[in-house]
Amino acid sequence: MESAKKIINLLLEKRGFDFTGYRPAMIERRIQSRLRNTNCKDQEEYFSFLNQNTDEFDHLIDAFTINVSRFFRDSLTFDYISKIILPDLFLSKDHEQDNNLRIWSAGCSFGEEPYSMAIILKEFLKKEKSTKKINIFATDIDRKALACAADGSYNFDSVKDVKFGILKEYFTAEGNQFLLDPEIQKTVHFSFYDLLDKKHLSPPESIFGGFDLVLCRNVLIYFEPEHQKEIFRKLHKSLKVNGYLILGEAEVPNQEIFHKLKRETNCCKIYRKIG
Ligand SMILES: C[S@@+](CC[C@H](N)C(=O)[O-])C[C@H]1O[C@@H](n2cnc3c(N)ncnc32)[C@H](O)[C@@H]1O
Repeated sequence: MESAKKIINLLLEKRGFDFTGYRPAMIERRIQSRLRNTNCKDQEEYFSFLNQNTDEFDHLIDAFTINVSRFFRDSLTFDYISKIILPDLFLSKDHEQDNNLRIWSAGCSFGEEPYSMAIILKEFLKKEKSTKKINIFATDIDRKALACAADGSYNFDSVKDVKFGILKEYFTAEGNQFLLDPEIQKTVHFSFYDLLDKKHLSPPESIFGGFDLVLCRNVLIYFEPEHQKEIFRKLHKSLKVNGYLILGEAEVPNQEIFHKLKRETNCCKIYRKIG
């Protein structure tokens, strides 16, 4: 484990990526995979290799940032958002005479999650003939994933859970790729943001938090409890009162913010800020 710490510290020093709060078992597994790829016999040898091969930093960062995602992942969550949450959100926006909806996808990977939100919102606006302005901010620490996200081109695995009608309406098949409708692409603003960033409570591009809905799914599972706590604090602060926090299937809010959130439904990990 000592060598793993040296490797993590080197990554922090040379590239500014802080993986010190990630679960040790996950870090160990990922370093082992790089050892196999680089033919290093142990972590000490890999540490020296890393010191001498700057390209390897990129591979190591790739190994640590697990980007698995797909459109409409946990489809029940998206159904719930579109059938229950959006009507409620739009109604309260009408009461408040607020024409803006602010959404943050934290740990957005290749963009499947924020784009799924953009699609259900487009469908909702169409159905309700609403003119509300939708602002979707999507952030990640993986710059390569962010660049791909902005590109809007996906393979079959990414779209395999998309209903046929939606696929037909919002994607164009080209070779073995599915190209997302540029109109949907335009509604999502991608930027780099580290959830452990101590300077900014929410992505600087979003100017201020005040989000109506925050998705942070399948990201917290990679962190140690201490760092999860920091992230939960940040997510909670970034939400408006009554705003929604959407977590991944295996994630639950920690003790500290548990009483400041109300579970919205038992069928998915959706919470509402109450205090
Ligand atoms: C498994 S993906 C989840 C993607 C999407 N939210 C979903 O549920 O399908 C996890 C993402 O979290 C990002 N991530 C990991 N550590 C992060 C951090 N400290 N700040 C922001 N994003 C981070 C990774 O780069 C990766 O793209």
